[in-house]
Formats: sequence, C-alpha cells, structure tokens
Amino acid sequence: MREPDGAGAGAGRLHDAAAQLLRANWRSGRAADGTQYGYTRPDPAKYPDQFLWDSCLSAVAWSHVEPARARRELRTLLAAQRADGHIGHTVFWGGPVRLSRALGYNVVHRRDRATATIQPPLIAWAWAEVADRSPDDPGFRTEGLEGLRRYHAWLERERADADRLLGILQPDESGLDATPAYDGPLGWRAHPRPGFLALLRFNRRRGFSYRRVVADGGFHATDVLVNTGWALAWEAMGRLGEPGAQARSAEIVEALVAHLWDERDGIFHPRGPRGERLRVATWAGLAPLILPGLPPEIRRRLVDEHVLRAGRFAVPFPVPSVSVQEATFRRRHTGWPIRRYWRGPSWIFSTRFVIDGLLAAGRTEAARDLARRTEALVLREGFREYYDPFTGAGMGGRAFSVSAMALDCRARVRAL
Ligand code: GLC
Repeated sequence: MREPDGAGAGAGRLHDAAAQLLRANWRSGRAADGTQYGYTRPDPAKYPDQFLWDSCLSAVAWSHVEPARARRELRTLLAAQRADGHIGHTVFWGGPVRLSRALGYNVVHRRDRATATIQPPLIAWAWAEVADRSPDDPGFRTEGLEGLRRYHAWLERERADADRLLGILQPDESGLDATPAYDGPLGWRAHPRPGFLALLRFNRRRGFSYRRVVADGGFHATDVLVNTGWALAWEAMGRLGEPGAQARSAEIVEALVAHLWDERDGIFHPRGPRGERLRVATWAGLAPLILPGLPPEIRRRLVDEHVLRAGRFAVPFPVPSVSVQEATFRRRHTGWPIRRYWRGPSWIFSTRFVIDGLLAAGRTEAARDLARRTEALVLREGFREYYDPFTGAGMGGRAFSVSAMALDCRARVRAL
C-alpha cells in the first residue's frame, strides 16, 4: 500500500521499505498471564523484547503505514503497566529475561515481567501523534488517558526533584546508554565497563528506587532527554484533552531552561549527582528543539551555533550523537566485547527532534535538507541501528525498527 502523497518515487520506496521492515519485526502472542500483546521488536536479532522508547517511536512510524498496528503497539505498552503506575524500560512478553543477560539487566528478580527502570517518557507524545492519524478509531484519543495519568503520577512521585525535573539513576535510563555526558561522575562504573555491574548491584539492592539511591549517595543525574520527553508528554496530554496539561508542560520547559540551559555554551547540559553541569555537547542537548514552547532565542542559538555549525553537529550524515568538536567524539562504536553506544554515530530518529526546531526557527530549507539526507541514507544503507556521520556507513543492528522514523521526518516537511 502506497501513501497517496504524490511525493515521488523516492518517497514511495521509503514507505514500502519501512512497511516491510516494521511488518517483519512485529511480534504478537499471548503472555503467561493471558495478556494479548503485539509490538515491534527494535531489532529481531539483537533486541527481541519491547523497549519503551523504541516502541513509542515505532508506533509513530507505523502510524504512516498501518495506524491500527500503531495503536496496538501503544496499547500493549500500557498493558505492561504495574499496579503502581510504573512502565518499565524493557518488557519481556516472551518470558523472563535470558539467564545470560539477567545479571546485566535492571530487574530485581529474574522472573520480573519488566525492568524496574525508566526510559525517556514518550508514551503520551506517541499516543497523541497516533491519535492524530486515527480517524478510523476516534475513541483512541481518550482511551489511554487513565493509564497515562497513573504513569505520570508515578514519575512525579518517584522521580521528580525539588526543581520539578525528573532524575535518573543509571545512564541507560536516558536512552543513550554510554553517552560521554556521564563519563565524569561515573568513571569506572560507566556503561558498560566492568564497574557498571557494581552500579547495578547497588541500585538493585535498593529495588531501583531513586529516592533510596539518592539518600544512600548513589549516582544520579538530571537528564536533558528524559526531561524533554517529560515536557513533551505533558504537552501531548493537552492534545489528548487533559485539562491543565499545557500549563504543566510550560512549567517543565521553564524548569528545563532554568536548570539545564547553559548560557555560556548555547546548549542544554545535564547535571550530575552534586548538581554540577556536565559540559559535553551531545545530541540530547539539542533535543529540546522539539518543544513548541522553547524560547525563540534559545532555539536560535541551538540552530545557529550547533545544528548548522560545521565542526559541531553539521556533518554529511546528521545528526551525530556527540558534537564533532568534543574530545570524546568517535565516528564508530567503541568498546569490546560489549559496544559503547551514543559516542558519535548518527541515529536516524534523532533527526525528528531537530526538524521541528528548524521549522519553528523559520529554517525550512534546512529542515527539508535534513529529511532528504535521512531518507537517502536509509535507502542507500538500509535500516541500520546507527551510521558513520562522515561516510554514512551503516553499523550495529541490521533491521532496526526505529530507523523507520525517516518516514515521519519526511512527513514533517512534506506539506511545506
Ligand atoms: C540500545 C539503545 C537504547 C535502545 C535499545 C534498543 O540499548 O542505547 O536506547 O532502547 O538499544 O534499541
């Protein structure tokens, strides 16, 4: 089935290739407790389980192909919600986590149905995006509100600090597992160095409770991407019809700017366990560009001084996960035998966070160019997990669902 968008042969090819990928990666069945599930494996060979933010982004990609599956994906995510409102970073529908992985996973007990940790909370955002493309199922828009409210209440209760921003207790909660932003405070415990297991054991002993970890002096941070997702989630709750949600989103954007915007560097930086700024320019520092309520001057600086600046994030195959000028920047993954991710290569869906900022800043041609490059890269190299920012060579997983977000990036600029 082709999109009736008249966008030409390239667009048709992208649509068909993305549809084929998503269909091949789909998994459905019945869990041991009788729950029916259906979700997109991030990569069938590498990541067979349901990962929270991959699932949200896959649902958005599905919404351009088969909105019914997008809705099924998000309903499945909500079906994994615990009674207290929490939704895990990874959900193991097919049975408990493999024994070989149990030690390195964020589970309290091996038989847990999901990890006890979080990932960027994009569910409400994905829900609103999918609802916008669900004219055939108008009830979908409000059907998830109850679960989403409980999810947000859990995050507020368990993770919000005095600055009203959410805290993380492990770097993988940011979605960017081995990001160099946390090298400083983590040192030998950085993901996935041997000390990471010690960090995990420390957190597991505390039931992965953020409050207990903070009270006992463990690693914790205020992450830019997680809080961008948090502001976006509340903005989306407004689109889903939740009263007061827009105001809540505006408050979070204000807190994000007050605490994580770095006036000196013109980019957002996370804060470490002592409240210190962690000054490494990564893609996460640009992610607030997706927020409609970002102050225009901040948007302008992010675009001019970083996104479009050669030697920083402007490379032949954007958006690199780390600014090229950083000492820690590497074009490829590093680490053996376990790879260290998010230290330089480009992930396709990062583009989606940047495009809206370019559009809001009036840089329409730059937004179009970014979407075109993303589409061309995927058509040339396939749906790989990440790419060399200078040559475009694909690396990592070979059938990576979330790279189908190239379709959504194209949709953002198509109507212009
Ligand atoms: C890697 C990524 C993480 C993603 C997962 C599945 O661990 O760092 O963000 O959710 O793979 O794709």
